[in-house]
Amino acid sequence: MTHIGRCRAHTNIALIKYWGKRNEELFLPMNSSLSLTLEAFYTDTEVVLDDNLDSDIFYLDDIKQSDKETAKITQFLNLFRDLANIKTRACVKSYNHVPTAAGLASSASAFSALAGAMNQATGLDLDLKTLSTFARRGSGSATRSLYGGFVEWYMGEGDESDSSHAIPVDDASWDIGMIVIAVNTGRKKLSSRVGMKHTIATSPFYSSWVETATSDLTKMKDAIKQKDFITLGEITESNGMKMHATMLGAFPPISYWEPDSVKAISKVKEIRETGIPCYVTMDAGPNVKVLCRQSDMDKIEALLLEDFNREQIIPTQVGEGIKLISDSDWNY
Ligand code: ADP
Ligand code: DP6
Repeated sequence: MTHIGRCRAHTNIALIKYWGKRNEELFLPMNSSLSLTLEAFYTDTEVVLDDNLDSDIFYLDDIKQSDKETAKITQFLNLFRDLANIKTRACVKSYNHVPTAAGLASSASAFSALAGAMNQATGLDLDLKTLSTFARRGSGSATRSLYGGFVEWYMGEGDESDSSHAIPVDDASWDIGMIVIAVNTGRKKLSSRVGMKHTIATSPFYSSWVETATSDLTKMKDAIKQKDFITLGEITESNGMKMHATMLGAFPPISYWEPDSVKAISKVKEIRETGIPCYVTMDAGPNVKVLCRQSDMDKIEALLLEDFNREQIIPTQVGEGIKLISDSDWNY
């Protein structure tokens, strides 16, 4: 007997960042965060539950993954198997349309798509809010990829796993876009998971980070309500820089930046000074993301091309939430 689930999830880039867990086992964050889901980057995942399998098998982009990578998938699938009261093993095939482990949020689309596919394969039929609490257990940022547009990951209360979930805030259909400046799409040396743990343990700035991220979130939700793009952008840039400053305060310090990251940030500032509103944010990697108005994207791209190659500039519109993929649309 086999049961199949297939799902597409888009990545999201946090405008108010998540950088630290208060409970590592349950992936409960230190602060609530808020993101924008992106159309251009996504993961497609198929789960086949098969009674004939003795263990889970995991292929990423058609390459069979190591025991260590497969063990992460098994642990995640067990959350669903326990709830469905089944032991059936799975063959998982996943395809990333986003560079893996480069600070472009592959883990967000990955675990959101895997949650959606497993939800279908098991027939559990969990609603999106509940499903977001499952996606969270694969990677914190995956919590937010269940929905499109602007999405909050509410931190929840105490050690209550069910209380920490995604909330759709706004569909961002008011002239919003993002341009990724791909500085380096190779694998990062330090994972977000290890980087954030080290920051909590050693950065004297950590408590201020949590405090200001919390007040930034309140102000940002207000700006979104007012459709105030300038305030949205200013808070985005400030919050991202504060996260990186907090990492620099760690011992030994953490920096994901490369010389071209600084070049990109300076260029965006220069473009802003010409009167086009655009703001940067960065994650656990050297790539720079530019939050801008969709209607300004052509102009900004042309200016970025003065200093970067065509392949380095990736414009994207706002993305949608997870979608199941039918047999006929599964093209792998
Ligand atoms: P990123 O910035 O890309 O999110 P992370 O270090 O946070 O980088 O996460 C990358 C990790 O997520 C990979 O090393 C792998 O373990 C996992 N991952 C990425 N893509 C997939 C996928 N499609 N399916 C399952 N796990 C994935
Ligand atoms: C800088 O979600 O990848 O992108 O929960 O340990 O898997 P784990 O970490 P992950 O960290 C994302 C960090 C960030 C900020 C963000 O997306 O909010």
